[in-house]
Amino acid sequence: HSQANQPQGDLFTVNSPHVVYTDESITSAYVYRTTKVTRTASGSLQATPFETKYDFKVERGVPKVGLMLVGWGGNNGSTVTAGIIANRKKLSWPTREGTQKANYYGSVIMSSTVKLGNDEVTGDDVNVPFHKLLPMVHPNDLVLGGWDISSMNLADAMDRAQVLEPTLKMLVRKEMEQMRPLPSIYYPDFIASNQGDRADNVLPGGSACQEHLDKIRSDIRDFKQRNALDKIIVLWTANTERYADIIPGVNDTANNILAAIKAGHDEISPSSVFATACILEGVPFINGSPQNTFVPGVINLAEIHNSYIGGDDFKSGQTKMKSALVDFLISAGIKLTSIASYNHLGNNDGKNLAEQKQFRSKEISKSNVVDDMVAANHILYAEGEHPDHTVVIKYMPAVGDHKRALDEYYGELFMGGRQTISIFNVCEDSLLASPLIIDLALVTEMMTRISWKNSSDDEYRNFHPVLSILSFMLKAPLTPPGTPVVNALAKQRNALCNIFRACVGLQPESDMTLEHKLF
Ligand code: NAI
Repeated sequence: HSQANQPQGDLFTVNSPHVVYTDESITSAYVYRTTKVTRTASGSLQATPFETKYDFKVERGVPKVGLMLVGWGGNNGSTVTAGIIANRKKLSWPTREGTQKANYYGSVIMSSTVKLGNDEVTGDDVNVPFHKLLPMVHPNDLVLGGWDISSMNLADAMDRAQVLEPTLKMLVRKEMEQMRPLPSIYYPDFIASNQGDRADNVLPGGSACQEHLDKIRSDIRDFKQRNALDKIIVLWTANTERYADIIPGVNDTANNILAAIKAGHDEISPSSVFATACILEGVPFINGSPQNTFVPGVINLAEIHNSYIGGDDFKSGQTKMKSALVDFLISAGIKLTSIASYNHLGNNDGKNLAEQKQFRSKEISKSNVVDDMVAANHILYAEGEHPDHTVVIKYMPAVGDHKRALDEYYGELFMGGRQTISIFNVCEDSLLASPLIIDLALVTEMMTRISWKNSSDDEYRNFHPVLSILSFMLKAPLTPPGTPVVNALAKQRNALCNIFRACVGLQPESDMTLEHKLF
């Protein structure tokens, strides 16, 4: 049964004349404080504190949400499915190291906390689960479904993935056997040729066409209706595709891409067809892979339909470390001069990336992730100067999903000194990616219930259709056209956290802790 419009019990309420709670919503009158910088004729800078007033509104009714995965039968798809079932059933299972209980480790929303404020009596920090800042959906309540070009049921797909313990798999097997991916669209030219042997669950036709677009749309509607859902989120966790060429007249505008799909143009990728279908259905679409699904025509279409999109490429292991470490080094005033990143992995993702065009998509997505941090420090780097940066990925079947990432960071210290930092990171790739899928779905869903207006406007409206608030979870964050990309991990987390705080009328956490510092 649908839980819509049943406000959850709040862990905290905000006591402020600017914040109003009703059964349906929380509204906050918020002052956003920024600094405007003016360049004077003499070349000096003048900084002016600047205030903008916004009203935010959060719908409190937590909807019943379906999460449909493209590539459901893959390592990530099967692992996140088993993980959610295990959490829902509060399972525990024996392992070599003892009894393991289901958890949501690795999910920033489910397993991290946020400082709410300071205890009035003791002065100590009071921290609350991120999940409790706003009335969010619980991942245990997500209804899972999706598509795969491989017909394997989810239990067999989980075995194929070789990620989870056999004792856990036994406990979820029965339920997962009943789960079968819907047939998907397969244009062999877009993923590696070595994937052909698993493609036994495909819709007829080998390039974009109106029938494919219509079928995906009707799959979404059917799933929603069959499961009595209030909302659907679709997320691409299928193979990395090659880049699509941007061709004027084909995929550069909303109208052109719709016409190109109808005409069966062969430069439209499966992921772009999925994105288009979702936008036309008003369903958010997130891209967890590196390819350019969001060609200009798709972004344009999302803007016209005011439908949320987000991407690209899960930021799970190596890049997550990189976007934290490089931010630390450069903001500490150390001149990073090179980054060498080697990976080897033995899962199907690695197999797909063994072909040049698919590797190239990943290389692009992994390469630009320090640009903003470098550009911000003109003391260390001259205009246009960059650390050397190389990314290598090799397929090594024996290591399976236990991806290896070897990183060397080389930098320049005080007075010509040198520093070499070497990192060797080994972990199951899909156990890093699965909680990100959950975070992406939960934050995206939350954003569909947050709206804003200028205090003089009558109507509340959405955020920009390109959800850059998802950047913390993504390697190559897509941002609204013409707006800057932020890769630094701490900034990305602050943005997420502080926007959620603003929605309930709380100031950003400044970490000044003046109350403990003054004498
Ligand atoms: P996988 O290869 O195990 O799973 C992908 C699934 O997609 C397969 O079951 C395949 O049959 C299916 N598929 C391929 N084309 C399809 C289509 N057109 N429609 C529907 N299904 C299709 O890969 P894995 O490990 O689950 O990763 C999925 C994606 O996530 C890859 O693109 C990978 O690069 C990306 N990614 C993964 C990360 C991680 O696992 N830590 C990190 C960053 C990105």
